[in-house]
Amino acid sequence: MEYPHQPVLVHEVVKFLVSVPEGIYVDGTVGSGGHSVAVGKSLHGKGRLICLDRDPEAVRLSGKRLAFLGNNVCVKKANYADLDKVLKDIGLKEVDGVLLDLGMSSYQLEKSGRGFSFSRNEPLDMRMDPDEELTARDLVNNLSTRELERLLRDYGEEKKARIIVRAIIAARSEKPIDTSSQLAALTKSVLPPSRRPGALHPATQTFQALRIAVNKELENIQIFLKKVPLLMAKGGRLVVLSYHSLEGRLIKKAMIDWERGCTCPPDFPVCACGKAPSFRRVFKKGLKPGPVEIGKNPRARSAILRVAERI
Ligand SMILES: C[S@@+](CC[C@H](N)C(=O)[O-])C[C@H]1O[C@@H](n2cnc3c(N)ncnc32)[C@H](O)[C@@H]1O
Repeated sequence: MEYPHQPVLVHEVVKFLVSVPEGIYVDGTVGSGGHSVAVGKSLHGKGRLICLDRDPEAVRLSGKRLAFLGNNVCVKKANYADLDKVLKDIGLKEVDGVLLDLGMSSYQLEKSGRGFSFSRNEPLDMRMDPDEELTARDLVNNLSTRELERLLRDYGEEKKARIIVRAIIAARSEKPIDTSSQLAALTKSVLPPSRRPGALHPATQTFQALRIAVNKELENIQIFLKKVPLLMAKGGRLVVLSYHSLEGRLIKKAMIDWERGCTCPPDFPVCACGKAPSFRRVFKKGLKPGPVEIGKNPRARSAILRVAERI
């Protein structure tokens, strides 16, 4: 394995995802295949795994790692928001479980050379799919002050957006901001690092915001959530790991809506929408990794696992 990603809550993911070992499962964010290897090992007989990632390097790495599953695995470069088309192409109508482990992989952060990390000096790219056109460099150097401020607020939940954007605009009027180090240094120059133990690097939220915007992460989650109920067999489970409140909120809201069914205003005497519940949440409160896992894998610190079962 060239760059292993330590999978978060791997035992729980397998336990909740694999309801029947002969079933068909989708890993929509295969990364370097950490979760998929564990899922694959728990399958028997006709059990099948369909793995997607929009990053061709992830497809290459995980493809090698999952080769032990032979014809029972299919690893494809695809966006999970296109899951309906992917399944149609393979000739499948529905599957027995879908896993999403959102965000970026350790490979992307530490080895891809695409500027995901504020601690590395790399071109400011941040595309998970290099076939897409828009890069973080384009956004940082071309958006207006207002657009940049909105981006940092909406996608980074950055309270100091105005100060950071003022510094970006001043810096780019001298020369373009081309690298992750330039942007990290710029942010640090106007937001001195906090001395609080465990405080984040001052550029954390700026980098998060750009990554989300470049990869249209929230839009993809929303498209996926609209499609997935129609693609899952009864009893199948949707298992999602999220790492920040923006994506977590979308997942939680969708699962609550599916469970509730009816969308009529609460003051309607009888239901007029006729919407029936389509999922039940397997547990109401998101599950978090314990201190031992967090100690071994810092990425687990902000993870929340949510599971909903198709009914
Ligand atoms: C946290 S990593 C997954 C790690 C994986 N579970 C493992 O154990 O190795 C997230 C992966 O999702 C991919 N990804 C993000 N958004 C995607 C999308 N819309 N469609 C497909 N893959 C996506 C990223 O390229 C990245 O490789």
